[in-house]
Amino acid sequence: MQKTNNNSPIAVVTGVSSGIGRAIVEHMIIDGYDVFGSVRNEEDAKTLSKQMGPKFKPLVFDVREREKVRLAAEFVKSQLNGQVLHGLVNNAGVAAFGPVEILDDEAFDASIDINLSGVRTVTNAFIPLLRGTESKSPGKIINISSLSGILNTPMNGAYCVSKHALESLADIYRRELLPAGIDVVSVRSGPIQSEIWNKARSQGDTYDDAAYQKMASKVRRIMRRAERDALPASAIANTVMDILAGRKKRVAYHLSKGAWISRFLAVLPARWADRLITNSLMS
Ligand SMILES: NC(=O)c1ccc[n+]([C@@H]2O[C@H](COP(=O)([O-])OP(=O)(O)OC[C@H]3O[C@@H](n4cnc5c(N)ncnc54)[C@H](OP(=O)(O)O)[C@@H]3O)[C@@H](O)[C@H]2O)c1
Repeated sequence: MQKTNNNSPIAVVTGVSSGIGRAIVEHMIIDGYDVFGSVRNEEDAKTLSKQMGPKFKPLVFDVREREKVRLAAEFVKSQLNGQVLHGLVNNAGVAAFGPVEILDDEAFDASIDINLSGVRTVTNAFIPLLRGTESKSPGKIINISSLSGILNTPMNGAYCVSKHALESLADIYRRELLPAGIDVVSVRSGPIQSEIWNKARSQGDTYDDAAYQKMASKVRRIMRRAERDALPASAIANTVMDILAGRKKRVAYHLSKGAWISRFLAVLPARWADRLITNSLMS
């Protein structure tokens, strides 16, 4: 494998086999980046290498596999030629739908392990590569979070808990890494066209317990509408590129047609929000 060209910025993106991660890689390559993208199997690594060309280099790991993540970071370090990693995009993630009472324990735990602990594993492995030197600026960390990281909604508990915790982790990293100049930014998205919806559905549907039936059928309708109105993955990729280029300087960006509704509900007194949210699902 060719070492990276010294003039190109270098980035690492997790979960690039489909959806948002894949779109981010495509945008980075267009903008001249060398990109290391993580996938979970050799087949995806080969397919993507062929499709993306020489500026893409696959890393193969599951974010839950600490040793493989560590080795991947070592490999990237060996390819940097003394450069500082320009960006780490923590994108890999899963969704699991269903009431927290009934949701499969494994699905709940996987949401936390992948969307939260996996981000910490990857971030810790790559922080040393993001640290600046006397002549080079430090890199940035971008987390692909969600509006579910600021608003808790029924039937989406595992995802909401994992993304709220991810928001907390981002704040903590940002404050701990401030002296090193490594910024941490959250991209909080609403519905985006991707495989995540089908993948979550293929895990099984735990909505249909009698106690939750009414709420479940309303949530299904809302989700169908959300999928229909979802933004393209390129909307997130454009925002990520703006953050990396320093054109966007906030700590968080909210992306979706109705993002203001989540932001409004998130700051209401909790009992008002309880009533508004649950009543709207029981009507
Ligand atoms: N789509 C939306 O509406 C939406 C909205 C807000 C936020 N997000 C966030 O955007 C991110 C990307 O999701 P997406 O919508 O693009 O879904 P996606 O198409 O399903 O992509 C998810 C990516 O994460 C990878 N992944 C899943 N589990 C992993 C693990 N244990 N280790 C390593 N990689 C893993 C997947 O790999 P495999 O192909 O091997 O499974 C895939 O490459 C997620 O963090 C998600 O929470 C999505």
